[in-house]
Amino acid sequence: MTGGTGYIGSHTVVELQQAGYSVVIIDNLSNSNIEVLDGIERITGIRPDFVKADCTDMAAVEKLFVEYPGIKGIINFAASKAVGESMQKPLLYYRNNLNTLMNLLDAMPRHGVKGIVFSSSCTVYGEPDENPVTEQAPIKKATSPYGNTKQISEEIITDVINSGAPIKSVILRYFNPVGAHPSAEIGELPNGVPQNLVPFLTQTAAGIRPMLSVFGDDYNTPDGSCIRDYINVVDLAKAHVIAVERMLEDKSEAPIEIFNLGTGTGLSVLELIAAFERATGVKVPHKIAARRPGDIEKVWANPKYANEVLGWRAETPIDDTMRSAWAWQQHLGALRKA
Ligand code: NAD
Ligand code: WQD
Repeated sequence: MTGGTGYIGSHTVVELQQAGYSVVIIDNLSNSNIEVLDGIERITGIRPDFVKADCTDMAAVEKLFVEYPGIKGIINFAASKAVGESMQKPLLYYRNNLNTLMNLLDAMPRHGVKGIVFSSSCTVYGEPDENPVTEQAPIKKATSPYGNTKQISEEIITDVINSGAPIKSVILRYFNPVGAHPSAEIGELPNGVPQNLVPFLTQTAAGIRPMLSVFGDDYNTPDGSCIRDYINVVDLAKAHVIAVERMLEDKSEAPIEIFNLGTGTGLSVLELIAAFERATGVKVPHKIAARRPGDIEKVWANPKYANEVLGWRAETPIDDTMRSAWAWQQHLGALRKA
């Protein structure tokens, strides 16, 4: 697994290990911390193998496959993911996200690796014409280099498989992953001032930030704030276990499959704040602020295809997800004081 010490990767390692898979992580720790392995071990009792290396380094990728000849499938989480930063440093994003993917696709057939699960994003739909969004919705021109790397990555995978490469791929388009493992042993690591809603919200609830700004209340939505599909990260992780099994056991005819991973329910920013306050009993100081440039007004998933074909469903109620995000925030606070 690439990027396995990151936010979604670490939760997926836990689910894979609990399903009986052996996992080897390759991560350069550019946006994660080696202590994540301790959290995984505390939850599962198993410490995954870990290789600190950069996936843009082809020699390091080759070496990994030589050292671990048993690798049959890859989940590629490794990528740079900050939308704003990608506007400032586009080459970093194109280089990191695309070279990582191309190196893996190049090496896979040589080492008998059957398939790759790829982390894509609902960002490929831009501002959709209709909600909920199905996988057939048109891909809109990307509004950031980050978003463009996801569109190009999907095309690279398609071109390589259409050229006859003996591999399969499952492309998963995540909506908005939030929350943490219910044990509070792993979660999303904040990096500077959070740009995403839930880490900013939990830091505000913890008193680290004085006030959460709600970016706009004049959108064409029932309460005027933007709508998203917030999916619990453990639910999301479980879909990867099913996708890996599907590839490795040849359960699909098609060499490439694409699935939306969302709940099917849209929540506004104000509804999400209310859910957090209801679930935790903690108030979140917030104010209405100007719209954030580039924001999508509303997007939520039609997850029917994943529900039917993968037999997977996002099950965790939003209140439980908010409680898990809060428990993780408190765990981080306790670490800081220790
Ligand atoms: P994350 O930053 O927590 O995890 C990514 C991991 O990849 C980090 O541990 C980082 O150190 C590692 N990494 C980055 N570049 C690397 C490289 N060249 N070589 C080795 N390791 C490298 O991010 P995340 O939220 O867990 O996201 C995982 C994937 O899901 C990414 O591809 C991201 O674009 C995608 N995604 C995330 C979201 C989201 O909101 N979190 C939504 C849609 C898609
Ligand atoms: C959610 C909502 C904000 C912060 C981004 C990427 C996307 C995907 C997920 C990877 C929006 C509002 C936020 C704040 C707020 N990543 N908000 N106050 O914008 O849906 O998506 O992350 O692929 O590509 O663009 O997520 O968490 O930033 O925002 O009001 O302080 O919360 O306006 O409506 P977003 P987000």
